[in-house]
Amino acid sequence: MDAQRTPLVVANWKMHKTIPEALRFLDAFLPALEGLGAQGAPGVGRVVEVAIAPPFTALQAVGARLRSATASIGLAAQNVHPEPQGAYTGEVSPVMLSDLGCRYVIVGHSERRRHFGEDDAFINKKLLAALRHGLGPILCVGETLEERRAGRTQGVLERQLRGALAGCPPEGAERLVIAYEPVWAIGTGVAASPDDAQEGARFVRELLRELYGEAVAGRVRVQYGGSVQPGNAYELMVRPDVDGALVGGASLDPEQFAQIVAEAAKAVQAKG
Ligand code: PGA
Repeated sequence: MDAQRTPLVVANWKMHKTIPEALRFLDAFLPALEGLGAQGAPGVGRVVEVAIAPPFTALQAVGARLRSATASIGLAAQNVHPEPQGAYTGEVSPVMLSDLGCRYVIVGHSERRRHFGEDDAFINKKLLAALRHGLGPILCVGETLEERRAGRTQGVLERQLRGALAGCPPEGAERLVIAYEPVWAIGTGVAASPDDAQEGARFVRELLRELYGEAVAGRVRVQYGGSVQPGNAYELMVRPDVDGALVGGASLDPEQFAQIVAEAAKAVQAKG
């Protein structure tokens, strides 16, 4: 079952990089990716799927460059509004993202929950809207340190998942990617242990099984996110329920991000 899921490694650039900076990243990243393949990291770009989530302002430029690249790299947005259009000053709709050629959109990131007050009901609307307009939602879930210490990790994950997935049919669910991102590991330099990452991803899959059955649960990719770096990526992604990574800080550097993709390819091989 594990071998059937192609891991997905996503660069989440957050509020970083102007258009020239984004293009300079690609000038270095695309050859680095090809170079890794040539150096015997087999399957880079084939057995691992890669996507880049630049800020909205760089989506078009990055999308155009990716379309002309040899490797198939997906374009992802970092946020979306639930409505297709309307009087929502400053927002970007799923129709606009599809129009730009986005394959994925991140929803429910902890930074949006915390800084912008997004709750499970609003995240649910975004997720359903993304699916309606042909985008693959990358749904982020994860507990805070306080919640973990209080033994509430599973309860929090269950609430976030049930809330975000309300009314989502099985045909939609199998197009989802879920990122287990413990809030205490994001941007701190302290990743979850491989055991904790596996346990979070396993729990996510167990809940998917309960909601949608074995076939759907076996197909959905569950990423780990939170301080993923070249040095810890393999141990995290080699775990059976961890299907790639959502990478923030380390994805800003082309060599580091290419190395993380290479580690994902090695993890695929090891999982057989
Ligand atoms: P980080 O961010 O890799 O910088 O911890 C991950 C994320 O927020 O998705």
